[in-house]
Amino acid sequence: MRNLTEANLSETVIAAMAGAKNARFKEIMTGLIKHLHAFIREVNLTEAEWLASIQFLTAVGQKCDEKRQEFILLSDTLGATTMKDIINNRKPPGVTEYTILGPFHRPDAPEFPLSGNIAADLPGEPAIVRGRVLAPDRSPIPNAMLDVWQSDAEGFYDLQMPDIKSTALRGVFHADAEGNYIFRTIKPSFYPIPHDGPVGQMLIAMGRHPYRPAHIHFIVSAEGYQSVTTELFASGDPYLDSDAVFGVRESLVVPFIRNDSKDEAERLNVSAPFYMVDYDFVLEPV
Ligand code: BEZ
Ligand code: FE
Repeated sequence: MRNLTEANLSETVIAAMAGAKNARFKEIMTGLIKHLHAFIREVNLTEAEWLASIQFLTAVGQKCDEKRQEFILLSDTLGATTMKDIINNRKPPGVTEYTILGPFHRPDAPEFPLSGNIAADLPGEPAIVRGRVLAPDRSPIPNAMLDVWQSDAEGFYDLQMPDIKSTALRGVFHADAEGNYIFRTIKPSFYPIPHDGPVGQMLIAMGRHPYRPAHIHFIVSAEGYQSVTTELFASGDPYLDSDAVFGVRESLVVPFIRNDSKDEAERLNVSAPFYMVDYDFVLEPV
């Protein structure tokens, strides 16, 4: 332990954990120490850069409170969340892909009947989202649950709206016995992730913007199947290829098709023009 050099320091620090009781903890810390040391050597980290890193991480921690999780935002913007999501949600082709949960899910979303309107009287372009929940063999899964949430036409979630005391633009739906679901909403907008903290500063220094392309979040679950946390992204959005948190998957990009028919609008209980989104979710059996 006394003749430590660039060549033997990593193995010495790892060997110091010989007494660790939890094998998985030891495995994780071994990997962390190896990669951290290799990183410091690879970039030739200076004293000033090491101190700036410590100050940055301190600021990230200080930005956190019950409502704001700056460390998760850091993980999201560095692609670490998506890497974790990809390795933990490997799915066969044809099954709906998982993507990032984000900080705006709430466990207290109200239940709506099918065709219910989660936008109430909020301003925006009316949209109808409909489709089926299916097994991989395309047979319908009856009575699946869809937990839905999205931003408004300006890119704000209810949690960010000072005038909304309860909930808005979120709801829980139950597909029917044939797997069909349908709900009314407004077209969401692209929006910036919270960027008034150290992660926002980091994005500027990286030459990056904080925007996510317009999307609707879903958690779809059904008895006997693995639930999926996912999002449907509006095709044509300017940020599809530069999502600040790397959540876009080609299979989740869907068109919002404009419909000008007054008759169709009346039949579907919306005003014309409105947008139609059709998407079938496919769940993997447990
Ligand atoms: C979201 O899509 O709601 C989101 C995801 C990651 C960070 C911020 C927002
Ligand atoms: Fe979102």
